[in-house]
Amino acid sequence: MRPRFGTVGLAWLALHGLATPARATDAPQTLDPPWIARGRAGMVAADSADASRVGAAILDAGGNAFDAAIATSAALTVMRPESTGIGGGGFMLAWDARASRFVALDFRETAPAAATPALYAKLVADAGEAGLSPTLFGGNAVATPGLVAGWSEVHRRFGTRPWSELIEPAARLADDFEVDPFYNRSCNELIGTYVKHPGLRERLGWLFDHHLDRGGPPFVARRISRPQIAAALRLIAREGPDVLYRGEIAQAIASAVSKTGGALTAQDLADYRVKEREPLRFSFGGCEFTTLPLPSSGGIVLRETLNILDVAGWKPPESFGADLPTHVLIEALKHAFADRARWLGDADFADPPLGRLADRDYAAQLARRIDNDRVRPIAEYGTPGPVASAPADRGTSHFCVADRFGNVVAWTETINGEFGSFVVAEPFGIILNNEMDDFATTGGRPNLFGLIQGDANRVQPGKRPLSSMTPTIVRRGERIVLVLGASGGPTIITSVLQVALNAAVRDLPLADAITAPRIHHQWQPDEVCFDRDPPRPLVASLTRRQHVVSYRPRGGCVQAIQFLPDGAMVGACDPRKGGRPAAASVP
Ligand code: DON
Repeated sequence: MRPRFGTVGLAWLALHGLATPARATDAPQTLDPPWIARGRAGMVAADSADASRVGAAILDAGGNAFDAAIATSAALTVMRPESTGIGGGGFMLAWDARASRFVALDFRETAPAAATPALYAKLVADAGEAGLSPTLFGGNAVATPGLVAGWSEVHRRFGTRPWSELIEPAARLADDFEVDPFYNRSCNELIGTYVKHPGLRERLGWLFDHHLDRGGPPFVARRISRPQIAAALRLIAREGPDVLYRGEIAQAIASAVSKTGGALTAQDLADYRVKEREPLRFSFGGCEFTTLPLPSSGGIVLRETLNILDVAGWKPPESFGADLPTHVLIEALKHAFADRARWLGDADFADPPLGRLADRDYAAQLARRIDNDRVRPIAEYGTPGPVASAPADRGTSHFCVADRFGNVVAWTETINGEFGSFVVAEPFGIILNNEMDDFATTGGRPNLFGLIQGDANRVQPGKRPLSSMTPTIVRRGERIVLVLGASGGPTIITSVLQVALNAAVRDLPLADAITAPRIHHQWQPDEVCFDRDPPRPLVASLTRRQHVVSYRPRGGCVQAIQFLPDGAMVGACDPRKGGRPAAASVP
């Protein structure tokens, strides 16, 4: 690659208010939008205003960032049932100020003991092309949930407030809360799913009966309650996390799965374990990135992309839409996503070539393969290898917390698809995930997010499906400058990458970094997506280089906190999902 960076995006840039990019430390030129908050005593940025408020109240009551994270996560179970909840799982990356170290915890869902490749091959074959995907709907889509085990481990290691005090606020929220536009929209889409798949209502009708108001979405600003999930949360608050792994709720989950044909048993729940992982660390543009290793692909794809860009001498362009830098960025992403598809899977089971993927010489080889003038044949990205087996933001929620003690938490959790598997553990209203779709179970067809996956990510009992979740903390020297993460399947990785480049490497104000337009390419399908209409000159320049430009908008939803040198914290919730940050008020 010869560095020769042209620029075509200035008009678009001016349109988006970034014509004279400010620095993060500059005083804001206009009033902050409602999805930005400033504070010094602590901050919670979740994709629901109520969840942020619940977390900030824990900080105000003297809790630390870990206490607040548990309470925020519990509140998300109520406020974002389409995205996440106690039927799902996730990851936490944190800076533990007391021990002065990063810690990564994996409470990702896990394949049940009976989930063999043969079982899933048969299920997929029996369902056929036209049938409902068994890895998306029904009991076989469900992997063993890990979220409450995650809360419990975080509380045991870092918590300072009583367990029940952290769960109770979420139960009270479930007694009475206000419908917000995002939930209203998700319910509209839920109707669409039931219309598209007649028969689903009879087989898996709980969501239709309980989340739709006489067949329609509940109106925005209407106050509603969810007594079933309130009861589950109160039981967990009173009896502790074990009730979900060995007690009454475990029985309810196993029975819901078995009634809908799935293989997950009470024993799978009893066997569930949280795993500590060694965080990934690497540098780019004077910043040190710390992020998640396998079983998420997020950190590895982020590192490979940035390594390629770094050895290529690439710098984040001053303006979005600069044509050659955009082409080079897309080509780097295609190499990294191709390697994701071919080589990555849970390292407790597979043996991915991690050293090679981290290697700067390897990145240099890939950088040399980038042609400034055109794309390559699709098979020539990354390291060739076998791909054994071969869709917007709804499932998944990311939040960040910072406290006055210096602790910082980046936490991403999910039930995968919108409203997960549609299997609900009654009488608790727990929506169970469809994380089994993140394995390469689809017989060569792309998964829900269009991802093709490799042999390393083949389903095996007890294995964790490959994820794209990318909770990340960025430092300059010893100082944390940014914590962030996203929802949106594979667009999580590209969203984290672009917002980190803007807010940390370029040091733009967080509001500008988050609202800047984003691109996405995941190697396959071979198309460049934008999160909104791209400028015409950019489309022309990409088309000339033989990229396929998609008009299907794709983008993730980022929550982040930026730390300014004077100690101020700026929390931001992506306006794409309607969250609001909340600052702690007690110093
Ligand atoms: O772990 C993963 O990568 C997916 N299960 C995440 C799904 C997701 O982000 C859904 N969309 N918004």
